[in-house]
This record gives sequence, structure tokens and C-alpha cells, in this order.
Amino acid sequence: MAASRSETARDGLPPWAVVSSTRAAHIGRVVALLDAWAEARGLPAGERARWRQAGWLHDALRDAPQEELEQWSGEVASRGLIHGPAAAARARAEGVTDAEVLEAVAYHTVGHASWGDLGLALYAADFLEPERPFAQAERAELAARFPDERDAVIRRVIAMRVAHAERKGRALRPETVAFIARWER
Ligand SMILES: [Fe+2]
Repeated sequence: MAASRSETARDGLPPWAVVSSTRAAHIGRVVALLDAWAEARGLPAGERARWRQAGWLHDALRDAPQEELEQWSGEVASRGLIHGPAAAARARAEGVTDAEVLEAVAYHTVGHASWGDLGLALYAADFLEPERPFAQAERAELAARFPDERDAVIRRVIAMRVAHAERKGRALRPETVAFIARWER
């Protein structure tokens, strides 16, 4: 998908995005996966557009300088979290008012217990887009199952991401702990 730019980030990266070409390609694949899932679910056009918008926005400031990220996130957050809150704050300042889209973007790297369908879809699509270099067969299978078996796929994505964090010796953030607790029932 072409990484065109649009004011609303409904059909492309927002004009204020700071992303490398590699990142733009990743974002395009996440949007394509979200759109395919939304279509497979039979969601109405307006809802599909919201899923795509969350995809276009989620990494829009991923390659911005640290000072810009801190300016927008309004806090000195640790590395894993700062670019999501910064992109959400910037999008809000640019007139995006959809709270579910903004919350999906803000927490896409760590998970959030309050998420509905849209936040869960972005979290899964970011991890399952086809060009990530690891576990490609399993991730492709999970991506294919998402429209019909969302909850099982989310549980598996959480398990893979937590295992990765443990291998890297990274402590889980409080948002992640709360998110996981919801899915362990
Ligand atoms: Fe991403």
C-alpha cells in the first residue's frame, strides 16, 4: 500500500509523520492487515476507516527525535511506551477526536485492559504483519485466524510478546500486567 499522506490519516500517513521509508512500509502492511480483517468481519465502511486510521497513526512519530516525543507525550516515558502516547497526543492536537482510536494508538506497544475490538486489532496487526523476520509461519496462521478467533489469537500474541520481553530481561509495564490479567481469566 502506498504511504501517501492525508490530513486525517484515514487514507495515508498524516503530514506530520516522522518515519523512515522502512517504517512507512511496516505501517502500510499493518493498515493492509487491519483492513483485510475488518472486511472479513463484515464491518461497515465507517468502522473499517477507523481501523485503518489507527494503523496509519500508530507509528507516525516512531522515528521522531526524543525531544519531539517528550514534547508530545507530556512525560518522560520509558522507551517502549513513548512513541504511542506522542502520536496520540499529536493526532488529538490535529483534530482526531475518536477516543478509541487514540487509546489504541497510545498503548499499542504495551496493551491496555480497557481496549475493545479496535485496540485489540491494532495490537495484533502490529505484531502479525507478514514481514517481521521471526516465527513467520505461526504468525501468518494467527493472522488468518484473527477475524473468526480473535480471543484465541490475542492470547497467543500476548504469550509470544511476554516470552520475548522475558528473553530480553524487560520488566512488564503496569499497563501490560493489567491487560494480561484480563486475558488470563
Ligand atoms: Fe508498528
